Amino acid sequence: MAQGSEVFIILDKVSKSFNGNQVLKDISTTVRTGEVLGLIGKSGSGKSVLIHAMRGNEEYKPDSGRIIYRVNHCESCGWVDMPSPGAKCSQCGKGTKIVEIDFWGLKERDPLRVAMRARIAIMLQRTFALYGDLSVIENVFEAMKEKSDDKKVARAIKLLEMVNMTYRTMHIARDLSGGEKQRTVLARQLAREPLLFLADEPTGTLDPETADTVHKALIKAVEETGMTMVVTSHWPKAIELLSHRAIWLEDGKIKAEGAPCDIAKEFDVKVVRDKKMDVQVGQPVIRVDGAKKYFYSIVRGVVRAVDDVSFEVNEKEIFGLIGLSGAGKTTLSRMISGITPATHGDVLVRIGDDWVNMSDMGEEGRGRATQYIGIMHQENALYPFNTVLQNLTICLGMKLPQE
Ligand SMILES: Nc1ncnc2c1ncn2[C@@H]1O[C@H](COP(=O)(O)OP(=O)(O)O)[C@@H](O)[C@H]1O
Ligand SMILES: [Mg+2]
Repeated sequence: MAQGSEVFIILDKVSKSFNGNQVLKDISTTVRTGEVLGLIGKSGSGKSVLIHAMRGNEEYKPDSGRIIYRVNHCESCGWVDMPSPGAKCSQCGKGTKIVEIDFWGLKERDPLRVAMRARIAIMLQRTFALYGDLSVIENVFEAMKEKSDDKKVARAIKLLEMVNMTYRTMHIARDLSGGEKQRTVLARQLAREPLLFLADEPTGTLDPETADTVHKALIKAVEETGMTMVVTSHWPKAIELLSHRAIWLEDGKIKAEGAPCDIAKEFDVKVVRDKKMDVQVGQPVIRVDGAKKYFYSIVRGVVRAVDDVSFEVNEKEIFGLIGLSGAGKTTLSRMISGITPATHGDVLVRIGDDWVNMSDMGEEGRGRATQYIGIMHQENALYPFNTVLQNLTICLGMKLPQE
């Protein structure tokens, strides 16, 4: 954080309820220019609600309390900028005044509120806000206000350098990895020159190594642009790495506030490690012995997706498979559930007293025990246009009456 930074954001007793359930309770803090505030908390603790309230999303208007942005305002052109006493307007060169924008106290179309909102950028966990059919650089162009082509290209390249994406400039966005997509989203958001960057679990679904490339890009962007950031995570490591100061939210309240290393450690000890349960495990139910799955691809030749893996899983056991993207986790899961037969070795699942070989294709080309196995995929397999109840009943093959 730069020396001589000014107070930029004031949260003053922000509270919010949904259907009588209070999800934010008297949240108060201040954030200075160039500062990164980390919000850590369990799922459902209120992190996203606070982020959406700071962004000004209609549903998230606080019931009480205020969100104040303290900015330099140019009365002649309306531009808002970081608070800096006596600075000239960066757009028209006229004088500016520091004003306190009571974000939710103003009408939606109030010019000050509109000007402030335009300078807040947001990045979310999994809605990769990209044009899938366009290249990386075209995606950045779409977010830029520059008119001349020369200026556009020069600036887009600069932004791609900032997020370490120049090696993918002409790549089609759809084919990028998760980390590359998030870095492209970051470049697009930076093109809008935000004063405040809200990052809601920006690396929540990425593996640690990929997440690290996004964390590095975020740190670099904050350092190079001087913008202020509020970042949320349920991952102590990310909060420790990214933020200058951290707040631990629990049930919508500030449970602790302080140095990121202290808060992250406390959260890790009290919440992350506390989750272990003592259970009595039973007899083996899954036996994987020397299992291999090779694919043959014209481009890549023999792909050894799973190569000689052996383990046993017992009843009531929670067995974790960890590995980088492409390490074979999904293929192995598909082999156990009988969707993908093994090329070598044994993949056995016990149903009652029978050991079923999951590579022997049963009806409809699936292993015979597949019907007893539930699978939850990485991408949500829900019917988006149906209700939760309909989603549940479709799975059971149950039909409900019209009402
Ligand atoms: N739009 C909404 N309508 C009703 N309840 C909501 C809405 N958004 C969030 N909530 C509720 O607010 C609480 C906090 O949620 P959230 O901020 O998403 O938690 P976190 O981001 O920390 O996981 C949860 O109980 C959640 O169900
Ligand atoms: Mg959230």
